[in-house]
Amino acid sequence: MTDQVEEVSVQANAELQKISSIEELESWRVRYLGRKSKLISVLRSLGDVPIDERRELGARANQVKASLEELYQAHKGKIELSKHESLERDRIDVTLPGQPYQLGRLHLTTRTIREICDIFAGMGFKVVEGPEVEWEYYNFEALNMPAEHPARDGFATLWVDYEAPGGGRPMLMRTHTSPVQIRTMEKEKPPIRVVAPGRVYRYEATDATHEWMFSQVEGLAVDRNITMADLKGTLFEFARRLFGQDRKCRFRCDYFPFVEPGVEIAIDCFMCGGKGCRLCGNSGWIEILGAGMVHPEVLRGCGIDPDEYSGFAFGMGVERIPILRYGIDDIRLFYGNDLRFLKQF
Ligand code: PHE
Repeated sequence: MTDQVEEVSVQANAELQKISSIEELESWRVRYLGRKSKLISVLRSLGDVPIDERRELGARANQVKASLEELYQAHKGKIELSKHESLERDRIDVTLPGQPYQLGRLHLTTRTIREICDIFAGMGFKVVEGPEVEWEYYNFEALNMPAEHPARDGFATLWVDYEAPGGGRPMLMRTHTSPVQIRTMEKEKPPIRVVAPGRVYRYEATDATHEWMFSQVEGLAVDRNITMADLKGTLFEFARRLFGQDRKCRFRCDYFPFVEPGVEIAIDCFMCGGKGCRLCGNSGWIEILGAGMVHPEVLRGCGIDPDEYSGFAFGMGVERIPILRYGIDDIRLFYGNDLRFLKQF
């Protein structure tokens, strides 16, 4: 029994060193000093021990008990103190001044796209989208630009290195949003009125006026009896809503393979009022979009009978609008991710 008491003393001491929480400490106390513990049962059964051993064993067991109790108190004090210290350390000073939250904002391009689409939504157009990685067919062929068409030279194209299953279907990064016209006419029956905003890509060296990626908004209206007057009325109204009610619009011939006739629309320069300045390149006019009556072959290719239906289409560069409005002198600022620039809008 003396051995047992010594063993308890060594074990209890060793275990106590590893204890760091009040809960563990309590279970240690129950194990070594509780009513059912070895030490206490030794003390209780002292009466059965032969008289000559009793004295020594009793004294030693009481000694161990007293020392464990002392250790227990000391360890408890230590744990409580460290808890207090960590509370002190983690204390929060609620009187410190706060750090202001940085307010996020929409990108200038996004804001401009929303503004353009809102104006057309107000005239009954719905917003649709198409893929940025596109089949050659939608970007060129279906828009009346077969493989050797010279107009393709105007679109420096980024081709995608991809062999379609079955072969022979080349892919590219769309060079304009006009393929969305085709996708819409394939899916929907007239009357159609849609605008399609999105990113477009050109294989071009970048400089202050060229980016390899920018945004366009495409528009398309197809129905019975749509004429050039509808095109003109819609786009003049759009230009005035965007640039101010007193803007004058200029309407001139232009060429795009997928429209006939094709036009270019300009507004009188809002900086100089038409007298000629740096912004308008001294011409007094600023070109803002290309448009035209949808080519009969394009309609036919989408399964729409050009003898029954007609339509107009238009396309414009998005970044160009804030460039003009705010006098931004480098298009690369839009996607350079410099917050000092982006935060201004
Ligand atoms: N897709 C033409 C371009 O990128 C713009 C356009 C669209 C012109 C629709 C006419 C009609 O230059």
